[in-house]
Amino acid sequence: MRHSLARVIQAHGLATLEASSGAEALAMLESQGEVPLVISDIYMPEMDGVTFLREALRLYPDTAFVMLTGVAEVATAVECLKLGALDYISKPVLVEEVRARVDKALEKRDLVLQNRFYQQHLESRVRELDRRNKQSLINGVQTLVHALEAKDAYTSGHSTRVSRYAVKTAVQLGYTGERLEFLRLGGELHDIGKIGTREDILNKPGPLTPDEFEHIKGHAVLGERILAPALAESPTVLRIVRSHHERMDGCGFPDGLVGAQIPAEARIVAVVDAFDAMTTNRAYRPSRTPADAVDELRRCMKTHFDPEVVDAFQRAFNDVSALPISL
Ligand SMILES: [Fe+2]
Repeated sequence: MRHSLARVIQAHGLATLEASSGAEALAMLESQGEVPLVISDIYMPEMDGVTFLREALRLYPDTAFVMLTGVAEVATAVECLKLGALDYISKPVLVEEVRARVDKALEKRDLVLQNRFYQQHLESRVRELDRRNKQSLINGVQTLVHALEAKDAYTSGHSTRVSRYAVKTAVQLGYTGERLEFLRLGGELHDIGKIGTREDILNKPGPLTPDEFEHIKGHAVLGERILAPALAESPTVLRIVRSHHERMDGCGFPDGLVGAQIPAEARIVAVVDAFDAMTTNRAYRPSRTPADAVDELRRCMKTHFDPEVVDAFQRAFNDVSALPISL
């Protein structure tokens, strides 16, 4: 019967191998490698069909199994289907039926393999797109920062330094992964609203009039508005940009938030922004030494700055003489 079945399948255009028992079939698979389709009887010497199926599927999960079954073995055939066989053929075997079941089993196997390939391919494609999206966002951020720096020479390098200070400080506070990434972006972008600030005010060497100060204060809200379409999915970054001039005592701008109402990331950027502003030359005053700047941060703890953030900043940069960091 096995020989005649093999001839039917060969006549159908497929190459065949024959084994007289489950053990022989396993040995054959081991030497020949995986095959697309196995037709196996349920009752066989040495190793019965169910045991063979279980073992072979464990080793070759992508092979399609079709079981041969007698009239009295329907329950066993169903058990085989549960174990992973794709189909069964009842004896007596009809030539037409064998061809149809073989074709169907191979088709099913192809579908499973194609589906898996598609899924794996899709996952890596999605990952690649995600990576590219992030990269183009970062490129966009750089473009904006360069635009601001072209307008305001004194902020050149400021955004990048603030970003690096903020990340190192946040690490001390236990930030990891995506939260650090938001802080890095927020640090780069915190002053982006100054693109809309008048240059004569931005570069004014003397003290500002109240009206001019009001105009400058607008950069926090304007920055958030400029970035909102691009960063709709990163609200943390938008909050940093909006709230980096808030003060712990509620005397900051634009919203006059108090203490813990100020987003934690904005409290970090507020500290490192102030430090960098103090330690670099500005249009309206010369720079202070880093040690003086740290003293000033400590003096303004509670009124301006979150004490925990100031402590974390000092832990992150305990060698003050190495500051400001060079880019
Ligand atoms: Fe600012």
